[in-house]
Amino acid sequence: MGFQIGILGLGTVGTGTARILLDPAGRHPLLRELQISRVGVRSLDKPRAVELPASMLTTDLEAIVTDADIDIVVELIGGLEPARSLILQAIANGKHVVTANKAVISRFGDEIYAAANEKGVYVMLEAAVGGGIPVIQPLKQALGVNRIKRVIGIVNGTTNYILTRMQAEGASFADVLADAQRLGYAEADPTADVDGLDAADKIAILASIAFGGRIKLDSVYCEGIRNVSAADIAYAEKLDFVIKLLAIAQEDIPEDSGSGTPQQLQVKVHPTLVAKTHPLASINDVYNAILVEGEPLGQVMFFGPGAGEGATASAVVADLLNIAAILQTETEPIPHPLLSCTHQHYCAIAPVEESVSRFYARFLTQDTPGVVGSLGTLFGDRGVSLESVVQIGMRDRLAEIVVVTHDVREGNFQQALADIRQLEAIADIPSVLRVL
Ligand code: HSE
Repeated sequence: MGFQIGILGLGTVGTGTARILLDPAGRHPLLRELQISRVGVRSLDKPRAVELPASMLTTDLEAIVTDADIDIVVELIGGLEPARSLILQAIANGKHVVTANKAVISRFGDEIYAAANEKGVYVMLEAAVGGGIPVIQPLKQALGVNRIKRVIGIVNGTTNYILTRMQAEGASFADVLADAQRLGYAEADPTADVDGLDAADKIAILASIAFGGRIKLDSVYCEGIRNVSAADIAYAEKLDFVIKLLAIAQEDIPEDSGSGTPQQLQVKVHPTLVAKTHPLASINDVYNAILVEGEPLGQVMFFGPGAGEGATASAVVADLLNIAAILQTETEPIPHPLLSCTHQHYCAIAPVEESVSRFYARFLTQDTPGVVGSLGTLFGDRGVSLESVVQIGMRDRLAEIVVVTHDVREGNFQQALADIRQLEAIADIPSVLRVL
């Protein structure tokens, strides 16, 4: 009899999903039990890249999520609405859900998982983070025995592609973005990608699973790559760094914390200088990678295609396979402890001023005696210790000074910058970036 699948959306990922389901030879034998029942599309007239009987297609998406014969709904329409309502309706009708929709899960995950737990159905989302890279299931299962300390990801392919090309060509952000749009690598409206919002959705999801608590999306600090300049990439290169958009979730350990201090997290997205020797530094172009640090395991890194038809569809169908395996073996509808969402509480997120990291800052100053000394003194007054100070050349008849700090509390660093802005010799501070 098998399991009946309803797919919402026949775009890139929907097409890839259908292709795998229609061609199970050589894949896991359980795939033969998964049958596409209906596919919801926006228009019945559009030519399709995958062959499906016309009778299978419908524009009535509600008819799919309420169809008594369908066991699992695959939501691939993206966006917030009607995706959220359709997912909730599918759950209310007792259907398991597989989704690639990071925007819906990061914003409405609490509502969706509460409804799913109540109804005893699964909501799986491997495809929502890292495209084809299996990272959600490993975090829930194989890595679940570890105390996770840190998750750092390059989880947005568009920005990684732009930064890689800026690095290789010495080109500006605007020029590479325009070319990436022309080539179809970047969306016509690139906001979600270049402003870090897509990466923020993804790290909120990863943090929630890694640290076992819900994450409020608006507590995720988010800074995109629009202000990363060719000059900074060139300076980073001279200092043996590359610049990457990192999504980071880690334990926040305040300096005065005792053993009884409740766990706080830092969850943030920002462009970051990464030492060329670091494993994430060599992740280029549209590829994604997620580095997980746990105790006692140490570090593991997942690397692969973060988007694309086949890759993302691979993650979608993996979730379908997991659900089918449970449905085939379980008689009682009890939530599988390794695949369902079991946490209810919200993680405490530390304000970004409390987070500790190294910083890179570029200053344009009058080329007068004592400027470097004044910078050092004002940093020192706020407890900021400098790792290196370099003055390589002149820009617009101003001296260009680049500073890299040791680890410092972000609030102290920002106070020092405010003090430095008051110096008469300081013409501008064009960039401030964090250093991994
Ligand atoms: N827009 C995303 C990216 C792909 O550029 O990585 C889907 O998550």
